[in-house]
Amino acid sequence: MSRPRILVTRRWPAAAEAALAERFDATFNEKDIPLGLDQMREAMTAYDAVLPTVSDKLPASVFEGDTRTKILGNFGVGYNHIDIFAAKAKGILVTNTPGVLTDCTADIAMLLLLAVARRGGEGERQLRAGAWEGWCPTHMIGTKVAGKTVGIIGFGRIGRAFAQRCHFGFGMEVVFYNRSTIDAAEAARYRARQLATIEEVLAASDFVSLHCPGGSQNRHLMNAARFAAMKPGAFLINTARGDVVDEAALINALETGSIRGAGLDVYEAEPQVPEKLKSMDNVVLLPHLGSATQETRTAMGMKVVENITNFFDGREPPDRVV
Ligand code: DGY
Repeated sequence: MSRPRILVTRRWPAAAEAALAERFDATFNEKDIPLGLDQMREAMTAYDAVLPTVSDKLPASVFEGDTRTKILGNFGVGYNHIDIFAAKAKGILVTNTPGVLTDCTADIAMLLLLAVARRGGEGERQLRAGAWEGWCPTHMIGTKVAGKTVGIIGFGRIGRAFAQRCHFGFGMEVVFYNRSTIDAAEAARYRARQLATIEEVLAASDFVSLHCPGGSQNRHLMNAARFAAMKPGAFLINTARGDVVDEAALINALETGSIRGAGLDVYEAEPQVPEKLKSMDNVVLLPHLGSATQETRTAMGMKVVENITNFFDGREPPDRVV
């Protein structure tokens, strides 16, 4: 029997590519640059499965006309780059990779929180530029983290792993907002308190960290009004999705000093990052590194292999989104 034809839109860690190639007729995008919409559309007519990532765009237009593709095995937990309703309408199943990137993404959120509070990026730049003049009591004074309140927006796996780090690792108070009510015993595991509205979380928090999905439901959740609702001098951390934050409103809040700083791993129009943000010393900028460890990226690939193997073997894939 012929093996399903699979297109992998970007290169993966070697072990995950090998696992895929063993089971499927796999084509890897050797150029390792994002496919254009026309190429993606063409892929839908030529492959049984397409395995995209967050760097791809799959709007409704990609699914128009005849399609051969039966499953999109997304390499990543977030899938706001895929119009999942258009895919579903075409009978195309979509899977993602939850669970395996929880710790590493929470680590990056913690790294950003610490770096922005303690001026890590700024200090490193100063030292490398040869501008450090030696220790003195007033040099590069930051903000103490222990005892401060962190507000988490979205208390899913990553939000909880971040809460654990903040409370048990760094002695912070944790409050959170989540669309649905979290069981009190579960919240208590993280010594975290659920508040009723996002505004209550913003008003209570010295650090606000975003852990909700991107896409239309949360687009610009952090807008001008929400920045104004933050505690004066608070910090924003975003490792979720760029579109959750209105970048123009963020820049304004930073320029006017209504918030003190920001730590960002994701952006509205990746890989473009507003020049203004790059010019600000109180902003720490990372290039979407949340899941970027050997272990995690390999595990993500293995999860995709597991999902599509189940599908082609006639079983329900464990991480079906639609
Ligand atoms: C995800 O999985 O959604 C990450 O942002 C991409 O690694």
